[in-house]
Amino acid sequence: MADKKKLYIRTYGCQMNVYDSERMAEALGAGKDGYELTENLEAADMILMNTCHIREKAAEKIYSELGRFKGLKTAKPDLKIGVAGCVAQAEGAEIMRRQPAVDLVVGPQTYHRLPEMMQAVAKGEKALDTDFPEEDKFENLPVRPKVKRAPAAFLTVQEGCDKFCAFCVVPYTRGAEVSRPTARILSEARALVERGVREITLLGQNVNAYIADGITLAGLIHQLAEIDGLARIRFTTSHPNDMGDDLIAAFGTCDKLMPYLHLPVQSGSDKILKRMNRSHSAAQYLQVLERIRAVRPDILISGDFIVGFPEETDADFQATLDLIRAVNYGQAYSFKYSSRPGTPAAERALVDADVADARLQELQALLSVQQKAAQDAMVGREVSVLFEKPGRLKGQMIGKSQHLHAVFVAIPDGPDAPVVGDLRRVRITESSANSLGGVLID
Ligand code: SAH
Ligand code: SF4
Ligand code: F3S
Repeated sequence: MADKKKLYIRTYGCQMNVYDSERMAEALGAGKDGYELTENLEAADMILMNTCHIREKAAEKIYSELGRFKGLKTAKPDLKIGVAGCVAQAEGAEIMRRQPAVDLVVGPQTYHRLPEMMQAVAKGEKALDTDFPEEDKFENLPVRPKVKRAPAAFLTVQEGCDKFCAFCVVPYTRGAEVSRPTARILSEARALVERGVREITLLGQNVNAYIADGITLAGLIHQLAEIDGLARIRFTTSHPNDMGDDLIAAFGTCDKLMPYLHLPVQSGSDKILKRMNRSHSAAQYLQVLERIRAVRPDILISGDFIVGFPEETDADFQATLDLIRAVNYGQAYSFKYSSRPGTPAAERALVDADVADARLQELQALLSVQQKAAQDAMVGREVSVLFEKPGRLKGQMIGKSQHLHAVFVAIPDGPDAPVVGDLRRVRITESSANSLGGVLID
């Protein structure tokens, strides 16, 4: 029997792309002529780049990578090259024009059509599909294979964004907000749990805007919590304006909902928030967090920040630092503003690049002090750890705490030693640069 053809996927961008890459691999893997995944670029018969358009650097990197892949094609003329994800959606046919070695371009809402597109590609044609189709792609993807899974999984429940922040490409690349039916999500979650998953992170560009047949994200979380064997639930990414009362309450009532919330704010200046079209003030954001902390005092807050947005003054930047001091973040992601074609802010004058660089450094210095302090504060505490993989040292395993800290645990030999997928109590004994160390308690 001939060997199966090999597929190499490289994923950029957010967790939704990680989930989409899994589903694309499944779509391309189905059937007797399907591809199997390889980690070895040179062995690939097809290379698929699942791309991100959020900042200019992310998008431009794709073209330099494609330039490298073109060389592989010279040595292996049958090699197929595909571009998926948000750059595919935003640039479409332009990608094939800039890099003629590309055979296929598919947007985030049409990858269920990959098998048909590949038939055209096999005949030597180019295939392009960046529609926003009527049909639900999830209903048209193959049933997920019954293979053993890693203990932590992503599950997309909502896609798209109607918020139109002035800097952001996502509403254009992913389309309007759409929520998947609750029953479908529950059955996908049950199937994941049957295959070894203990922790599910619900994904959406605006996951807390989830609403399907009157069921909100909080309602969905409560239903998921009833699945035996599912130990932990998380969700990301949320918008402050969609933090409903029932979702806030869920942090106090649902034990399986982990005490971690990624709630981007972008800026602490009301003037800038307005110009970003965020439709909330700094004070409103702080109030939401205060209410969540009232029901879940140990919650770890994570955020996203943009510095150097057009017309950001020193005073605006100071307001962002003040907000960061008021919140005390346990985790954060921060970026220099990148002007994106087609977004409203793209027309506006840029802040001086050196000024923006200096602000980013100052902001990141403050955030890293806060992150380290949150991590150090775990030393001496008992946490629960979901073991995800063996460590590099013998007798060591790595897992994640409730607060999403990576924890390295020394495992004594014996019948009681945990295996991947186990949840165990651990006492934290040390805090290093980016992780914690601990010992088993029971
Ligand atoms: N839906 C999420 C995530 C959007 S993208 C949300 O609303 O928060 C992730 C982060 O990238 C954003 O939170 C923002 O901080 C950053 N980002 C988006 N567009 C950007 C741009 N044009 N320049 C710099 N950072 C940007
Ligand atoms: Fe982009 Fe704003 Fe939508 Fe987030 S809420 S995806 S930042 S437009
Ligand atoms: Fe990037 Fe698209 Fe995600 S632009 S951040 S891959 S939604």
